[in-house]
Amino acid sequence: MQTQRVVSIGQLGVGYWGPNLLRNLNSDPSFRVVAACDLSAERRSYVERHFPDIAVESDAEALISNPAIEALVIATPAGTHFELARRALQSGKHVLVEKPMASTSAEVQELGRLAESKGLVAMVGHTFIYNSAVQYLRKMVEDGTLGEVRYIYCQRLNLGRIRSDVDALWNFGPHDISIVQYILGNSEPLSVAYHGMDYVQPGIDDVVFLNLVYPGKVLVNIHVSWLDPSRKRSIVVVGSEKMVVYDDVSEHKITIFDKGIDRRAELGKHMDYDARQPLTFDYRSGDVWIPKINFTEPLKGEVRHFYECVANGAECLTGPAHALKVIDVLERAGAARNAIGPVHKTSPLRGAIIKERVEEEHEAPIPDGSAERAMKGARKAKKSRAKVGSS
Ligand SMILES: NC(=O)c1ccc[n+]([C@@H]2O[C@H](COP(=O)([O-])OP(=O)(O)OC[C@H]3O[C@@H](n4cnc5c(N)ncnc54)[C@H](O)[C@@H]3O)[C@@H](O)[C@H]2O)c1
Repeated sequence: MQTQRVVSIGQLGVGYWGPNLLRNLNSDPSFRVVAACDLSAERRSYVERHFPDIAVESDAEALISNPAIEALVIATPAGTHFELARRALQSGKHVLVEKPMASTSAEVQELGRLAESKGLVAMVGHTFIYNSAVQYLRKMVEDGTLGEVRYIYCQRLNLGRIRSDVDALWNFGPHDISIVQYILGNSEPLSVAYHGMDYVQPGIDDVVFLNLVYPGKVLVNIHVSWLDPSRKRSIVVVGSEKMVVYDDVSEHKITIFDKGIDRRAELGKHMDYDARQPLTFDYRSGDVWIPKINFTEPLKGEVRHFYECVANGAECLTGPAHALKVIDVLERAGAARNAIGPVHKTSPLRGAIIKERVEEEHEAPIPDGSAERAMKGARKAKKSRAKVGSS
């Protein structure tokens, strides 16, 4: 029997998300986890308690320069990814970098070039690409089950966990952008429009509505927020033949609706183009079904894929080319945000600035609630006057 090659691996960063990666690596016999590193003493002691066989370090350099380590997982904050990945690749290590791969497209390109020149794997942890429900969704788009994709909307909402190093879009957006890119066959958006607002920390948007238009009139809305009453993780894809809801927090991840609106064909009707007649439509509301999906932990699939790329030369699904498309959309979103003007410059007065600016554009006062309250009061008074009149 052929024995499987074991890849010796180390991990940088074991904060909130890192333990999930470490657990999956440690339970996969194809990997031997040599060491983990974190700047925080508390996180290092966490590793010592839960993974006693793994060496613990406080300096990333100890892992990067360790010749016994073949590959590194980087699960540190986003702003550190590029530098750590670059140093790891330079010292001959394959890297699995948490999302986003880096902070700019130039950095992703540099990592891609470096990996290619050294024959190494550079993979980004866009976990959802390894999620069976997302793969099912892509298959339905690819094999035409949904017909033509009309529009898609994604909601990734929570109360918390607030970050200060990235805004809600850079935190949650890579997931939805990478899913949309994946299910739409990697086409690029024709336009990117951004609306976001910073309510909790000045200059860091807590809620973002991103609108993308893809070729073929495919409209995509991505709504991310860490200031929301409910936890939602859903994607709705409306196609010309079927509609599908992917709800990641539900037991049944995928629900398919045979719903749609068709133009009714009536023989002999609507043929006189000089005499316009109203069109008739059929509202289709047929079966609803929930396919059985063999769901395994996406991170397990992600680390397996990393192994296949490192040990068996598999083509990486989320290599620099995929990461680049995601960062490109984030960069275009940033440019759209900045183009809005002073509104999005870091300032505790942003709300006031927005009001001034919009008032200027529309030459109409922006409601601050008082006008609405006055209207409500007037309506109430009118109602009670009417009541008095009728009694
Ligand atoms: N794929 C997913 O679903 C998912 C979910 C959450 C977070 N993430 C990603 O994981 C990464 C980490 O996020 P998090 O929420 O765990 O952040 P975190 O701040 O909780 O943890 C980061 C850890 O990295 C450590 N660290 C920082 N710089 C370091 C360095 N130079 N060397 C070693 N350790 C260092 C910190 O001490 C901290 O413990 C981010 O890139 C984030 O986007 C991915």
